[in-house]
Amino acid sequence: MEPIDEQLLERIDAYIETLFPAPGDVPDALEQCLRDAEAAGLPAIQVSPNEGRLLHTIAKLARAARILEIGALGGYSAIWLAQSLPATGSLISLEINPRYAAVARASVGRAGFGNLVEIRVGPAGESLRGMIQSRAEPFDLIFIDADKVSYVEYLDLSMQLSRPGTVILADNVIRGGRVLEDAPADANDAGARAYNQAIARHPRLDSLILPILRSRVDGVAISIVR
Ligand code: DHB
Ligand code: MG
Repeated sequence: MEPIDEQLLERIDAYIETLFPAPGDVPDALEQCLRDAEAAGLPAIQVSPNEGRLLHTIAKLARAARILEIGALGGYSAIWLAQSLPATGSLISLEINPRYAAVARASVGRAGFGNLVEIRVGPAGESLRGMIQSRAEPFDLIFIDADKVSYVEYLDLSMQLSRPGTVILADNVIRGGRVLEDAPADANDAGARAYNQAIARHPRLDSLILPILRSRVDGVAISIVR
């Protein structure tokens, strides 16, 4: 792998962050969310402020009123997404770890979105299959950001909770360039690579991957259901 100037990547990300602070009433809630997640010992793998803004902007562009998130972690991206919802909108966020879910619930509530957001605890595959079986209304936007090993499964299940025009996003699909390897040794890298191949050849998706600069190069996949 080519050497990358990680300091430059971080400075670029910080520069963008200073240009565009968080909108509305949520900046303090986002900061507090990060502090609480750190205090509770959650891994600091939430989306960057700039990627949070990207999620928010795409949700607004899509006029999303029903959003599904797969992988809540501490609720940071949920706050960004909830900020884009209309007053009648809803966000369901799936989280396997009950401790993470409690942190997410508290942070989302403090941000003022407790009435719009439900953090649902359990393995995402089970929750998704439950929604499919109960014929849940299709979602307008789905954000996949959980274990990368299951990304292709989450995509297949998400397709069954979609309609033409649904936007499906997936975080961490470049993973520092490790997805470039034919057979990545790491199961999460392999999962992300398989996801990229699945959306690229999917007959019902129009897709792209947007590289994301952080302390390493990563990327977000953006797909629209035909
Ligand atoms: C990891 C997971 C993420 O969702 C992320 O944004 C960054 C890293 C990880 O598991 O390493
Ligand atoms: Mg992620």
